[in-house]
Formats: sequence, C-alpha cells, structure tokens
Amino acid sequence: MTRHPLLTACVFCATLSACQGVQGNPVAGKAQAATCEACHGVGGNSTLAQYPRLAGQHASYIVQALTEYQNGQRTNPIMKAMAAGLTARNKADLAAYFASQHGLRTKY
Ligand code: HEC
Repeated sequence: MTRHPLLTACVFCATLSACQGVQGNPVAGKAQAATCEACHGVGGNSTLAQYPRLAGQHASYIVQALTEYQNGQRTNPIMKAMAAGLTARNKADLAAYFASQHGLRTKY
C-alpha cells in the first residue's frame, strides 16, 4: 500500500501543538497574561533572574515549554501548576502575545 504523503504529514503534525492549526491571538493572550506577568514581568520582560524573559521568544518554543510542563517532560513545580489548566488555545494565545513583545535591554 502506498501512503499518501499528505496523510503522513498530518499524522506527524497531530503530535505537535504548534501545527495543529491553533493560531495564536496576541490580543487574547494579553488578556490572559496578568498572572504570568506577576513573575515574568510586564510584556514578559522579567526583571528578576529567577524568572525567564518570555518577551520576543519564539511562539513555538513557548507553546512547547508549556506543553512539556504539562506532560512532565520539563519539571518545575511552579510552572507545572501554572500550565496545568491551559488549553491548546490558551497556550497559543499566550505564546503569540509574549512572542510579539520586544525584549528590553535597558536597565530600569
Ligand atoms: C509564580 C511565578 C510564575 C508564574 C505566575 C508563571 N511562571 Fe512561567 N516560569 C516561572 C519560573 C520560575 C520558570 C523557570 C522554570 C524552569 O527552570 O523550568 C518559568 C518558566 C516559564 C517558561 C519557560 C521559559 C524558557 O525560557 O524556557 C515559560 C514559557 C513560562 N514560564 C510561561 C509562563 C506562562 C505563560 C505563565 C502564565 C500562565 C507563567 N509562566 C506564569 C515562574 C512563573
């Protein structure tokens, strides 16, 4: 039996939330980001070394990190709790928002 190349691509994509067709909306992400910003800083520009800067990171990286906190591939008790309730849509929106922000280089 010959496999249809598109079918193979779909099966592959189904395992990656980044290409499940969930297109992130930065405006919706901003509306959900207040909790995250308490640690990661406004716009994802953290001023504290223990909280990574999310501003300007690739959306696909942010989605993947959140997914890995959810499934235990990446372990951190704080982020496990933060990511636990996020749907694929929430992750995509939050990622789109933080990816759209510029990383600050200035001291403040
Ligand atoms: C109570 C503080 C706190 C809150 C609130 C919080 N985070 Fe985090 N976050 C952390 C810490 C600490 C780390 C570093 C964990 C590690 O070492 O893996 C982290 C790591 C991350 C990373 C990985 C960054 C990288 O560079 O690898 C992402 C993405 C992330 N958080 C997104 C979020 C999102 C989205 C929210 C809101 C839903 C959120 N965080 C809320 C503390 C927090």
